[in-house]
Amino acid sequence: MLSQDDLKRAVAAAAIAYVPADCIVGVGTGSTANMFIDELAKIKHKIRGAVASSEASAKRLQAHGIEVFSLNDAGEMPVYVDGADEITRHLHMVKGGGGALTREKIVASCSQKFICLCDASKLVDVLGKFPLPIEVIPMARSGVARQLIALGGQPKLREGFTTDNGNIILDVHGLQIMNPVELESALDHIAGVVTNGLFARRAADVLLLGTPEGVKTYTV
Ligand code: A5P
Repeated sequence: MLSQDDLKRAVAAAAIAYVPADCIVGVGTGSTANMFIDELAKIKHKIRGAVASSEASAKRLQAHGIEVFSLNDAGEMPVYVDGADEITRHLHMVKGGGGALTREKIVASCSQKFICLCDASKLVDVLGKFPLPIEVIPMARSGVARQLIALGGQPKLREGFTTDNGNIILDVHGLQIMNPVELESALDHIAGVVTNGLFARRAADVLLLGTPEGVKTYTV
């Protein structure tokens, strides 16, 4: 029987087909993105390099001998490849389980195509079972938490965690996210919120879903 890791490895390998020759690739963060980095290493002579969405991914890319560019030097990229914590058939996502949501959203926004890599357990009808990560400026913690409660969520501080940008994460439990595009915008308007983990305004363009029957491709 295929393990979750086998499914992740299969989608990571399938994603290589979406990487054009001679390009700079946007690279996400997490265990699935790590497998993609390992696949990318196999074709590293065919690409110019990568932009990383976290310090951890940058280190892994460099360890493979892949050049890591700053986003400002790279300009617009053809593809951004990353995992997600939950995804719907509309390709709206919850991300940030690894805490890298802000840089992920920035690098994705500078890429023409978002290729999302998930094992079958991540595909859901309604987002919100996975607690929604929100990166917050530390001094705004209590004020933001009160506003999240007013929106119907139960925020919990991610203990002992600081983002690559020096901020905290509030994980919001108990949300049933029926309108991800609207909620993403509403959360962005709370003072002190740096980024929320809804990726709906800019959804994925392609989902490669690892299933026991093979890799399935979804587009919107
Ligand atoms: C990192 O901050 C996240 O957005 C990841 O993309 C997400 O948590 C998926 O991670 P895994 O591939 O480890 O499940």
